[in-house]
Amino acid sequence: MKVLIATDKPFAKVAVDGIRTVVEGAGFELALLEKYTEKAQLLDAVKDANAIIIRSDIIDAEVLDAAKELKIVVRAGAGYDNVDLAAATAHGVVVMNTPGQNSNAVAELVLGMLVYGVRNFYNGTSGTELKGKKLGILAYGNVGRNVARIAKGFGMEVYAYDAYCPADVIEKDGVKALASTADLFKACQIISLHIPATAETKGSINYELMNSMPKGAIVVNTARKEVIDEAGLTKMFEERPDFKYLSDIQPAIHADLAARFADRYFATPKKMGAQTSEANINAGIAAAEQIVDFIKNGNLKFKVN
Ligand SMILES: NC(=O)c1ccc[n+]([C@@H]2O[C@H](COP(=O)([O-])OP(=O)(O)OC[C@H]3O[C@@H](n4cnc5c(N)ncnc54)[C@H](O)[C@@H]3O)[C@@H](O)[C@H]2O)c1
Repeated sequence: MKVLIATDKPFAKVAVDGIRTVVEGAGFELALLEKYTEKAQLLDAVKDANAIIIRSDIIDAEVLDAAKELKIVVRAGAGYDNVDLAAATAHGVVVMNTPGQNSNAVAELVLGMLVYGVRNFYNGTSGTELKGKKLGILAYGNVGRNVARIAKGFGMEVYAYDAYCPADVIEKDGVKALASTADLFKACQIISLHIPATAETKGSINYELMNSMPKGAIVVNTARKEVIDEAGLTKMFEERPDFKYLSDIQPAIHADLAARFADRYFATPKKMGAQTSEANINAGIAAAEQIVDFIKNGNLKFKVN
């Protein structure tokens, strides 16, 4: 049984060592394709792989066609919009993610960016505090829950809306559940986005929603750049001098926003919500364990297709 780690952006060495321990401990073989520059290298490497661990790497129909022995792909991380789920299903390949393994890392970055934002990007001027401010968490999944936990420590009033998570689950955490995305934006000066990028959510964070936010509006996006309507984002910056946007995922219009609104727009140079050694190790090892458990016991717990 051959498990391939195919990572354009490699795991930390300690994470690869952990994956190796799990894979070889189960009597399987581990192969490594890191920092590949051509798709052809990936197509070649997957030929005899029975299982693949990926990060943001693209698994499309062409890769699945080339991977004749493939049974399972595990995305070490939460979002799996880089995998063509329909094509995987058509090829009889199981796709899993490793939910929850990087949530604390992302949540800590959210609060870090928020402090940076309300303190005027540490430019030496007087800012505001987070205590007592209303924080709206859009999507109460693994990351959203961790944001709520930490935000409560800051003394924020925490609200959330999730299309699929029941209100009583949210309220058990001392978080006020609202009835819609629109209600959340209207109620909260600060919004943190944690929705996945789906057909339903892409472009859904638009001007109308953002413009309904109270004065001093801040949107933090550690979800996906696709969920933002970028024309609406530009309009918000142009029309609302009080508006700030903080993200670890640069929008396509990053250069324009950075040049025109440097005092209110911040995006990290690279996506970095999950870039901690802890998240790296946790997600990689979880991926390896899920593969072993699937191949040996047929466990489909984290299947997403
Ligand atoms: N910046 C980063 O490095 C980074 C790291 C991890 C995750 N992410 C992104 O953050 C997203 C959330 O991660 P997670 O681990 O919390 O995922 P998760 O699957 O645990 O939670 C997603 C939540 O979104 C809810 N949801 C789905 N569609 C919705 C909709 N239309 N409206 C409202 N709620 C909706 C689901 O019910 C679920 O509770 C991921 O999909 C991923 O795109 C980014």
